[in-house]
Amino acid sequence: SLKIVIIGGGSSYTPELIEGIINNYDVLPVSEIWLVDILEGREKLMIIAGLAKRMIAQADCSIKIVETLDRREALKDANYVITQIRVGQLDMRRSDEYLSLKHGVIGQETTGAGGFMKALRTIPVMLDICEDIEELAPEAWLLNFTNPAGIITEAILKHSNVKVVGLCNNPINFYKKFAKDYQVPMKDVSIQFVGINHLNWITDFYIKGKSRLNDVLAGVSASYEAKNIPGLEWDPIFLQSLGAIPCGYHKYYYQTDQILAEQLNNYKKGYTRADQVQQVEKELFTIYEDPSTMEKPDALEQRGGAYYSEAAVNLLTSIHLDNKQIHTVNVRNNGAISCLPNDVCIEVNCIVENQQITPIQTGNVSPQIRGLLQVVKAYEELTVEAAVTRKIGTALQALTIHPLIPSAKKAHELLQDMLIANEAYFQPI
Ligand code: G6P
Ligand code: MN
Ligand code: MN
Repeated sequence: SLKIVIIGGGSSYTPELIEGIINNYDVLPVSEIWLVDILEGREKLMIIAGLAKRMIAQADCSIKIVETLDRREALKDANYVITQIRVGQLDMRRSDEYLSLKHGVIGQETTGAGGFMKALRTIPVMLDICEDIEELAPEAWLLNFTNPAGIITEAILKHSNVKVVGLCNNPINFYKKFAKDYQVPMKDVSIQFVGINHLNWITDFYIKGKSRLNDVLAGVSASYEAKNIPGLEWDPIFLQSLGAIPCGYHKYYYQTDQILAEQLNNYKKGYTRADQVQQVEKELFTIYEDPSTMEKPDALEQRGGAYYSEAAVNLLTSIHLDNKQIHTVNVRNNGAISCLPNDVCIEVNCIVENQQITPIQTGNVSPQIRGLLQVVKAYEELTVEAAVTRKIGTALQALTIHPLIPSAKKAHELLQDMLIANEAYFQPI
């Protein structure tokens, strides 16, 4: 019987996870789920715990739900820890988006200056959590969903001894898309990914063992609908010469001007993605606290995190059964992508075997992929270093080399504004 601890348990996404755990109850013998949050999140935590208990009762599973503000008590002897925290909550996401746009650059939760500031706020808190895990549940696996997931996971890999794996729903969304497009079950789809979180390319995919990349390069739709990303399509000549399928977040890099124009419009109207998400959250919590709500409501589909619980629960099950399955997750490179350092975090296919999650070699990376991949990874390495050393110069270097930031001057002005807004969370030296 397993004890799972969800840190950031008061998140509006938690009912997804509870549903996933319920659906896999026959293969994953969970006996306790501890929902942990901080004092500011207490009200949301109580509502989520109430709903989780109703969902469990309705499903007739014997899982005990415990809600608590005492993280250390929760972590004792945990088997699995899931982190999905948002330091500074949605107000600080909003601040990231608005400050970026004020300086004329893309304002996004994970990509560019927004993700950078989120990382600086979040890494110190995540490393604190990891110290507790090292002490109280040293054998536990940590599944990290906290964004920017690749950067946060890299910080943990480099600065703690916790067994960590980073997760995102982007890969599973592609499995689902191809299964739907070709009318086959997901097990008949296999996809080759190369890259890092929110910047990974599909270099080939197979339906029942047959390569189908050319279908997409020849014009069959290349993306799935994501609620949080503008729905622009790719230029066919661009796609063919890229020789790979980009992920949704590539739009911020490859279609910067169009997306920026759209974002600046929303900024002027005072309604960015953070504002939208805040409104959706309000609706969600009204539904959640209604005692007649017994399951995950459809309204949750307005968020970008669709199927994230399926990715999490599939991985949990795989680790638990040690079943040699492939999962596309965030781990230490160890040479799998030969043009990146060994100690960085990448998001590629990995095999779950012998209590380890091992990345599979990706083969040669073409220059059009390598160029962007290396520069964004270097930005991520510097961001981790800036968060840990708190050196302002390192932070400035990170932001300046980011492809979405046009100059050192702009980077410096934006950094100064962001550091003032984030005084309570991050103090540089
Ligand atoms: C996708 C990404 C997540 C991200 C989410 C944002 O699911 O993979 O990493 O957090 O979208 O969605 P939101 O509804 O918060 O804008
Ligand atoms: Mn993600
Ligand atoms: Mn730049």
